[in-house]
Amino acid sequence: MEYVNQRMAQEAHRNPDDVYTGLITPLNLILVAITLYTTYLLSKPSPPATLPREPPATVFKTFTPRELLPYNGLNGMPVYLAVRGRIFDVTNGRNFYGPGGPYENFAGRDASRGLACHSFDEEMLTKDLDGPLDKLDGLGEEEFESLRGWEERFDSKYLVVGRLVAAGEK
Ligand code: HEM
Repeated sequence: MEYVNQRMAQEAHRNPDDVYTGLITPLNLILVAITLYTTYLLSKPSPPATLPREPPATVFKTFTPRELLPYNGLNGMPVYLAVRGRIFDVTNGRNFYGPGGPYENFAGRDASRGLACHSFDEEMLTKDLDGPLDKLDGLGEEEFESLRGWEERFDSKYLVVGRLVAAGEK
């Protein structure tokens, strides 16, 4: 009974500030910290979703025979060749057309006549890079048929990246 009276007297004289001081315990501080951190995380703007990288854009360009020449796989260049005015990116076939490949003569050149005649000899290529394009004069039906076959193959395998025009036409 003595004890109860003592507690009641203590309660009656307790300073109201003690109530607040009692709330500042290590556990409460941790809980407040967690609450604040969670609020911060929820309100933080989320970073934009990373999109898959696009393949490099293919820019369709016109090339003169001289401009096409450097596209031969040397010096880190891609490999292009022209067939009847259309320029194919044949870099994926660099084993065929790249430096040291069996058909490297076609790299950076108009390969139309060579493909039609089934020959990769130098004389199949247009000599004058600043002159008119090869009109394929003198070829027969069989050669044109063969050329169409190659074009079909290239269409299914490679991307057209440009158009070959004579130097005077650009
Ligand atoms: C000695 C005769 C020849 C042999 C043994 C030969 C062999 C081959 C072989 C094995 C392929 C690969 C086929 C493939 O895997 O898709 C190929 C492709 C090819 N050959 Fe020949 N070839 C010969 C002559 C020629 C000639 C004279 C030309 C000239 C027009 C030529 C032009 C090509 C071309 C343009 C390709 C396609 C490459 C590609 O898919 O980009 N070949 N040849």
